[in-house]
Amino acid sequence: MPDRSRVAVLISGRGSNMAALIYASRAASCPYEIVLVTGDRPDAPGLTLAEAEDVPVARLPAPAKGKDLFFAALQQTLEEARVDLIALAGFMRILPAHFVAKWAGRIINIHPSLLPKHKGLKTHAACIAAGDRVSGATVHLVSEELDSGEILGQVEVAVLPDDDDQALADRVLIAEHQLYPRILAEYASRPFDAAWIERQVDGLARRLPEVGRKTSHGSPGWSAGGEKGKLFAIIADQHHGEDAIGLLIKASGLDEMTGLIETQPDKYYWPKYYGVSGWLGLKMNRRDVDWGEVEDWLERSWRACAPHRLTKLMRAAEDF
Ligand code: GAR
Repeated sequence: MPDRSRVAVLISGRGSNMAALIYASRAASCPYEIVLVTGDRPDAPGLTLAEAEDVPVARLPAPAKGKDLFFAALQQTLEEARVDLIALAGFMRILPAHFVAKWAGRIINIHPSLLPKHKGLKTHAACIAAGDRVSGATVHLVSEELDSGEILGQVEVAVLPDDDDQALADRVLIAEHQLYPRILAEYASRPFDAAWIERQVDGLARRLPEVGRKTSHGSPGWSAGGEKGKLFAIIADQHHGEDAIGLLIKASGLDEMTGLIETQPDKYYWPKYYGVSGWLGLKMNRRDVDWGEVEDWLERSWRACAPHRLTKLMRAAEDF
């Protein structure tokens, strides 16, 4: 099992979702650990609870004393704690664009409505006023636009005829406490999930012309020039006792392969059996996979394997 993802929870108040994340992380099988709780209110009750639970807490000066100062201090604190993911749990402050960009794909939020419905504040009152029969909660990635990033998971909660916003909020909160730890665990596990990796590679590979699917000794692969074409990429999921879930691609030759493997052993490896046939292994079960780089490798490998008629067409299109 890979190391657990290091999660910082950001709160502004009570911190009941934070508590749900902490208690779920106590299970030995949980793929994340809470390494820091902090927020924009040094007096938030949730911080006291986290301290009592022996979770490291940083009481940062409130942003009222300088927003830039606050986010600079937050950034430093997160870096010192070597945080992989940030979980917002009732953090009632809009993050500046530069902060969101720095942590792109690594900030998760919980919102008490079925997004895209009822963004922003007073969601329960808005839900009742709209006459909705169902409400719920959403866990999503944070993007620059408020409450609009990719939805990772949702749970529905029935609205009862005599619900007021407090009664509804209380019930949605119970659902939030179930949803958030589950979705955070799924998200933390994603980089190590071979099926998820394969779906991402498939999405990128299919952008290339005439790509087919076929297998190589049972491993999923992609071929250039349709299903009958030559394989240009293979996923080797911990083959023959290897640690890596590897994407095997064609480099220019043995010199390039050995150079890459020697200088960047965290990223590249010599795949058993496949290495001798010129396949280079790119380790995909890492938190810091650069998908732009994966796309470049797929294209290079495709070019090396595609039939002449296709590469000629590609070159003609590029020269145009
Ligand atoms: C939760 O209901 C959370 O979904 C909501 O604040 C509450 C915090 O409670 N968040 C938002 O409205 C974010 N826009 P908690 O401090 O007990 O977790």
